Amino acid sequence: MTTPNCRLVILISGGGSNLQSFIDSVNAETLNATIAAVISNKPNAKGLERATAAGIPTQAIDHTAFASREAFDAELMQQIDQYQPDLVILAGFMRILTPQFVQHFQGRLLNIHPSLLPKYPGLHTHQRAIDAGDHFAGATVHFVTEELDGGPAIIQASVTIEANDTADTLAQRILLQEHRIYPLAAQWFAEGRLQLVNNTATLDQQALTAGGIQFEG
Ligand code: GRF
Repeated sequence: MTTPNCRLVILISGGGSNLQSFIDSVNAETLNATIAAVISNKPNAKGLERATAAGIPTQAIDHTAFASREAFDAELMQQIDQYQPDLVILAGFMRILTPQFVQHFQGRLLNIHPSLLPKYPGLHTHQRAIDAGDHFAGATVHFVTEELDGGPAIIQASVTIEANDTADTLAQRILLQEHRIYPLAAQWFAEGRLQLVNNTATLDQQALTAGGIQFEG
C-alpha cells in the first residue's frame, strides 16, 4: 500500500543538516512527501531557520519548561498528532523518548544514528570508532523502539576511517552519507515498501537483517 503524499513531521535539536536533506529531496521530487512541520526542543536551533526559509511551519517546545520527561513527551506527542503525520523523523533530536511516546508512534518513527549499529549506540560515536582502531565508521537509519539506538536497522552507509581523521573530520564525511540514506529510507516508507512487522524491518516484504541494506552510493 502506498501512502500518497506521505506527511512527515521532523524533530530536531540543532543544525538541521539532515532536515535540509529532506527539504532538498522533497524539492527535487526524489522524496514524494510533504513536510507538515518541524519541531525543535531547543528554541534557538539553527534548523528552525532552515524550515522557515523553506516555508515549513515550525514549533519550539522547550523541554526545560516541563517538570518531567513524561510531561514533555506528552505535549510533544499531542503537537505532532495535530499534523496527522504518516511518518515522524528524528533528525538530530537529542532527547531520550519515553516508552509511551515510542509506542504511540511505533512503526512510523525513524532515527538516524552516526555509527554502524549495533556498534556504538549513545554519544561520541566518531571518537569511539577512532579510539577502537576501526577501519570503517558510518551511519544507520533505524526504526525507533524502546531500546536506545537499538531498533531494527533499515539502511547503513560506511566510510573509511583515515589515519589522520579526528572526530570532526569523520563526522563531516559521515554526515554526507546521512544526507543520502535518510531521505531514501523515508521514500521507501512513502512508497509503502518499508514496514515494521513484529519488531523486524521489512523492505518489499523481505526481512532486513543485521545493519539493514548496505548503501553502495
Ligand atoms: C547527525 O550526526 C545525526 O546522525 C545525529 O545527530 C546529528 C544531527 O546533525 N543523530 P544535523 O542537525 O542533522 O546536522
